[in-house]
Amino acid sequence: MSEQQEALLEVRGLKKYFPIQKGFLRRTVGYVKAVDDVNIGVLAGETLGVVGESGSGKTTLGRCILRLYEPTAGEVLLRTNGNTMDVIQLEGKEMHTFRRNAQMIFQDPYASLNPRMNVLETVGEPLLVNGVAKGKELEERVMKVILQVGLRVEHLRRFPHSFSGGQRQRIGIARALVVNPNLIVADEPVSALDVSIQAQILNLLKDLQSQYHLTYIFISHAMSVIRYMADRIAVMYAGKLVEIGPKQAVLSQPLHPYSEALLAAVPKASQRNRRLRMASAGEPPDLANLPSGCVFHPRCKYATDKCKTEVPTLRSMGPGRTVSCHYADTLKLEGI
Ligand SMILES: Nc1ncnc2c1ncn2[C@@H]1O[C@H](COP(=O)(O)OP(=O)(O)OP(=O)(O)O)[C@@H](O)[C@H]1O
Ligand code: SF4
Ligand SMILES: [Mg+2]
Repeated sequence: MSEQQEALLEVRGLKKYFPIQKGFLRRTVGYVKAVDDVNIGVLAGETLGVVGESGSGKTTLGRCILRLYEPTAGEVLLRTNGNTMDVIQLEGKEMHTFRRNAQMIFQDPYASLNPRMNVLETVGEPLLVNGVAKGKELEERVMKVILQVGLRVEHLRRFPHSFSGGQRQRIGIARALVVNPNLIVADEPVSALDVSIQAQILNLLKDLQSQYHLTYIFISHAMSVIRYMADRIAVMYAGKLVEIGPKQAVLSQPLHPYSEALLAAVPKASQRNRRLRMASAGEPPDLANLPSGCVFHPRCKYATDKCKTEVPTLRSMGPGRTVSCHYADTLKLEGI
């Protein structure tokens, strides 16, 4: 990210701890640290890919940024038209303004649509709820957007059950797009779809981005999808950001051993039909009881005694690159 360019979105020290409650009185006995002190900036018009294995905190991060979850701590700033919105402090009317600027596309197009609402109602709802349009104007805006996502006018009165997975995701995209947002958080938007449909949806998202100068936070556990979509890559492990940098740099020269492990799992052309290799040996950690020192140390093939006791801090490693590994400047890691 260039130093001069101001970020559309800035996330500072973001934390989301879910309480673990036990017993009849539901006493809090600990916390799942799903997002732990994350800092990121996202430039207008770019795609920041957020990658990490299941449970690393990607969805929680996306939901906190959009205030679908209340963060435990931290700041989220959205800058549009010369105004800065302090997202965590927004209330009432200001929240409607924020919802017009920032939307989410969900992972599961089967679960995320209300089965009792037809396409017109589903896609029109954000316009109605946020006081943007109603009646004839609403219908016209919905019509325009469903054509943009590759659906047809005759689909307007149909209900979700009569659509395929890919079509349902197009409805989800239309619902996000209809309020003309600047920022879209797309949470695994293709992972529930057939491989044959995935490319269509990814290409649709790319086309819409260039047409409307959209900014994406694109979440996926699959480095191959991130590689296709992202301008910059943020790697999450156990609720923490462990590496961030321009796509090509992270892919060809990862600086964190966990990034290297994720890249090793990207299927090569010769192995496309084989099962994906595990990203890294061992299990992801228990977020309620994290390992000491570097949280990745029990699975890291480069770990030393220092890694077991000393927490690495995020540090700058050249233009736009940040990493948290004690040995980032001496390890020669393999990319793709
Ligand atoms: N509402 C919740 N209450 C309690 N714990 C939660 C809640 N939502 C998420 N978690 C926990 O937070 C951690 C991070 O979950 P999250 O869904 O953000 O991960 P993810 O990276 O999106 O994973 P996946 O790739 O499986 O979608 C997990 O341990 C999860 O169990
Ligand atoms: S700090 Fe140590 S354990 Fe952590 S990633 Fe770097 S080498 Fe591996
Ligand atoms: Mg998720």
